[in-house]
Amino acid sequence: MSSEVRRAAQILRAGGLVAFPTETVYGLGADAANEKAIARLYTVKRRPADHPVIVHFASADDAFRWAAAVPQAARELAKKFWPGPLTLILKRSALAKDWVTGAQDTVGLRVPSHPVAQQLLKEFAGGIAAPSANRFGKVSPTTAAHVREDLGPDVDLVLEGGASEVGIESTIVDLSAGVAAVLRPGHITKEQLESVIGPIGDKASTSPRHSGGLERHYAPRTPARLVPTHALDREIATLKDRVAVLAFSRPDERVDFWLRMPRDPGAYAQRLYAALRELDTANCEQILVEAPPDAAEWAAVRDRLRRACEDG
Ligand code: TXA
Ligand code: MG
Repeated sequence: MSSEVRRAAQILRAGGLVAFPTETVYGLGADAANEKAIARLYTVKRRPADHPVIVHFASADDAFRWAAAVPQAARELAKKFWPGPLTLILKRSALAKDWVTGAQDTVGLRVPSHPVAQQLLKEFAGGIAAPSANRFGKVSPTTAAHVREDLGPDVDLVLEGGASEVGIESTIVDLSAGVAAVLRPGHITKEQLESVIGPIGDKASTSPRHSGGLERHYAPRTPARLVPTHALDREIATLKDRVAVLAFSRPDERVDFWLRMPRDPGAYAQRLYAALRELDTANCEQILVEAPPDAAEWAAVRDRLRRACEDG
């Protein structure tokens, strides 16, 4: 256990804010049992008070104490995918207070696998509420440097943990309503979930509030547009603006700023948010994003790109 992690746990106990690495994105952590700490978290995030946050734990046993009932499907998914990039929405127990659930009767639970997150959660020995460590509506951070750029002195400590391996936020599965539903696609695909618990819907019929569901989430500052592969060349040929392009192919000389992305969806996801930040710093009038394939394994990347792009 590093002294940094011990210091981080002390800061959390004192009601402070600690940003920490997870395998998905960096989280902005606060003691989930401390109302004042969570109020400060929301202020720093500039997040509406009625939006729920995910509560993180070191183990499934710890996490499930915050649920009123744990359906068999939740146990099976936890066994298979925790620790890892999966969030389960369950009916809350008395431990999950209104200030983390947005006063809903459900709570979001996650057991991250990143070793630094695991150390911190074990040392803190409680639930850590942690939304992504960016301002509301902006691109999530995948490095400690991103967090410092975004939040600066508003956070008491940033734990270093390298670049997040998954790169996009956890898959969220709602198991609170009897039928399972994916609320946010992620690295763990619907097909993988279904191989464990059987058929899953896409959205709960009574869809609960989740900010990932707002359009224009995960957005860069520069207006971004999704362009199908076959139209990319034509778009570039007719543009008069300075453009930055995110594409699978080699750079085109007519374009001021070009980032080439991997053809593997996992590798693409890992690079995505850093790439969007880089495109933003190119000071172009527009960002063009080559649309990824329509296949199931690209669902999570397509979801984030759709939200990052204006024609959503
Ligand atoms: O990968 C992740 O999940 C990252 C890392 C830090 O763990 N966290 C993250 O948190 O993405 P955040 O707050 O940026 O997004 C969490 C999403 C939000 O859309 C939130 O509204 C939803 O989870 N959520 C949390 N509790 C919920 C609940 N009880 N019902 C429905 N949605 C919920
Ligand atoms: Mg977020």
